[in-house]
Amino acid sequence: MLRERIADLSSFVEPDRVRREVYVDPEIFELEMQRIHERYWIYCGHESQVPKPGDYYAVQIGRQPMLMVRGKDKKIHVLYNRCPHRGNMMCGDRNGNAGEFFRCSYHAWTFHHDGKLRSIPMMESGYTGTRFTRDNPDCSMKKAPRVEAYRGFVFASLVAEGSSLLEFLGESKVAFDDMCDRAPEGQVEIVPNCFRVIQHSNWKIFLENQLDALHPSVTHQSTGRAAHEVEQEIARKAKKGAAPLSYHMLSAFATVTVDKWDAFQTLSYPYGHCILTGYMGLRPQDPDTLAYDDLMIKAYGRKRFEAIVGVNIHHVLIYPGLSVQSALQQLRAVRPLGVDRTLTEIWHFRLKGAPEAIYRRSLAYYNLVNSPATLVNADDLENFWKCHQGLASDGGDWVSFGRHHGRDIEKNGVIESAPDMGTSEAPMRNQMKAWVQYMQG
Ligand code: FES
Ligand SMILES: [Fe+2]
Repeated sequence: MLRERIADLSSFVEPDRVRREVYVDPEIFELEMQRIHERYWIYCGHESQVPKPGDYYAVQIGRQPMLMVRGKDKKIHVLYNRCPHRGNMMCGDRNGNAGEFFRCSYHAWTFHHDGKLRSIPMMESGYTGTRFTRDNPDCSMKKAPRVEAYRGFVFASLVAEGSSLLEFLGESKVAFDDMCDRAPEGQVEIVPNCFRVIQHSNWKIFLENQLDALHPSVTHQSTGRAAHEVEQEIARKAKKGAAPLSYHMLSAFATVTVDKWDAFQTLSYPYGHCILTGYMGLRPQDPDTLAYDDLMIKAYGRKRFEAIVGVNIHHVLIYPGLSVQSALQQLRAVRPLGVDRTLTEIWHFRLKGAPEAIYRRSLAYYNLVNSPATLVNADDLENFWKCHQGLASDGGDWVSFGRHHGRDIEKNGVIESAPDMGTSEAPMRNQMKAWVQYMQG
């Protein structure tokens, strides 16, 4: 039945609106997994998650359980988490160290870190004359056909052909440059655990929210106002008159009003990637920031330092599965679990060579804005769930992305929101335009 409807998928998406089935139809979801998530470059993790040979991390790519593993030769491999004998999952834990080799818990077949068969117990007596020979690739763990990394961020694609990671990322690679350049040593390292949130909504609802500059002033206003009141109270009582920066991270949701968000800009690129410019004013002149600035100037020289900290990005969305806040060293990886269930992994990073206080700033933002414990996240999650519920109903057929439609400015393949229209729904239009191209193969 779906086959007959595939030809019509493009009719589900118009330039300024999308049919609700795109979010709630399980068959469309299955097709998305085949044509998007199991085909294009999906973020697996950061190299620093697997520093030693045998270190592995389990990661979901589309519907496929995979392992990112460090080999003895220091190379990173991405393997299907499956034993070729009877299909047993090789690693049941989320992460760990496999030791010298993988050993299946069922019948003890062993594999090198690159997935190649190492041994089958009693191979001679059991398999002589059968199809199971050491050089039969079916006896090894299957590998992701393509694995590439950019500045330590590892991606895999489950098909052999296609554009390179850098071609695919295009301008969105600035997410990783901006993050790493802010480190005096030019690198970041993972903080080795993440928050995991299961959203009861379709994966695209989360991605569309990431560059929705209109919603913070509404959805997060109550949180922002509460934080702002406390911030002012502290400032009144404190001799030097300022509340800690962490209050600003929350109060900005009230003090950055719609007109200020409109002053930012959205930039939309091929493949559905998008950037929201703007910066919440996280360059105060406190002693911690000044100490950090000194280290950066020593490492890069003043001119380059100014260029690095002057990069003006609030958010980079790398379609179809990554949302990066580079200036705050955090990212969210999106793992669709079902048409109405989406796992997000929320990670943050340390700037190598930066003072501890700068890391604490990133940690504060991680906890206050992006963690499952914060009201900011809770208010978003409630919207996502309610959107999915509404879209599953017969109350209407279309989702509207019409805000500032027709006013976008196209320059060399990049679509810019028009001046003072930062709350444009251009990024959502761009994501859905790319979605049709992906789905049509
Ligand atoms: S299933 Fe893995 S060795 Fe049998
Ligand atoms: Fe939000």
